[in-house]
Amino acid sequence: MTGENEVSDPGDADGTDDRDGDDIDDTRSTTRETLAQRRGLDEPVYQPAEDSGLLAEAGREHARGVVVEVGTGSGWVASEVTGAAAVERVVGTDVNPHACRRARQRGVEAVRADLLDPLRNDTVDTLLFNPPYLPTTPETEWDDWQERALSGGDTGRAVIEPFLRDAPRVLAADGRALLLVSSLTGFADVVEHAVDCGFHAETVVEESYPYETLSVLLLEL
Ligand SMILES: C[S@@+](CC[C@H](N)C(=O)[O-])C[C@H]1O[C@@H](n2cnc3c(N)ncnc32)[C@H](O)[C@@H]1O
Repeated sequence: MTGENEVSDPGDADGTDDRDGDDIDDTRSTTRETLAQRRGLDEPVYQPAEDSGLLAEAGREHARGVVVEVGTGSGWVASEVTGAAAVERVVGTDVNPHACRRARQRGVEAVRADLLDPLRNDTVDTLLFNPPYLPTTPETEWDDWQERALSGGDTGRAVIEPFLRDAPRVLAADGRALLLVSSLTGFADVVEHAVDCGFHAETVVEESYPYETLSVLLLEL
């Protein structure tokens, strides 16, 4: 990688798994406009939006102890939750190395990781996740970092479901997860999957917009 597409890999610095098989080829942006460029963004990192705001609101009220924000993006949600009274420590993770770098610039401890893979069992008091959730057909998929921030595969739940399956492993006793869910993703389907994974689900924040309703689920084992 050369020039402005070059990015130092925070995963290397942290000794985390690079997962070479699912890396994005950043050099492609020299031959094809990326989704981030189309949106006028200077780098392929999700910018805080309404969904981020709702997760931060839920996190300030319900997060406690050791908090991991999965898919931290710019690190804005993690930094918002950092000062909450019941919170001891906040770590952000993201599969996108540009996001890890941006979150660190914001002062967030960020580690490159695919979902919960590097986390040990029974170690996290609160998981936060605003996942990629837009249902996306293969024909409209953009294989770049901004796409990874948005696309939830054909059902919208391609990233949510493995997160829910693995979350009980990393959560400490009395641990909890706060998960942003869009009506576009199938709210009832997400709740059903969470229950199948052993969670009790309760909506703690909800807001309706012209095209979707966004909810934050508090998930407890
Ligand atoms: C909708 S954005 C949310 C960003 C930020 N948390 C916020 O609310 O503003 C989803 C984030 O999840 C990250 N992501 C997607 N798939 C991931 C995976 N398998 N493991 C970790 N992060 C992932 C994306 O890179 C992106 O930063």
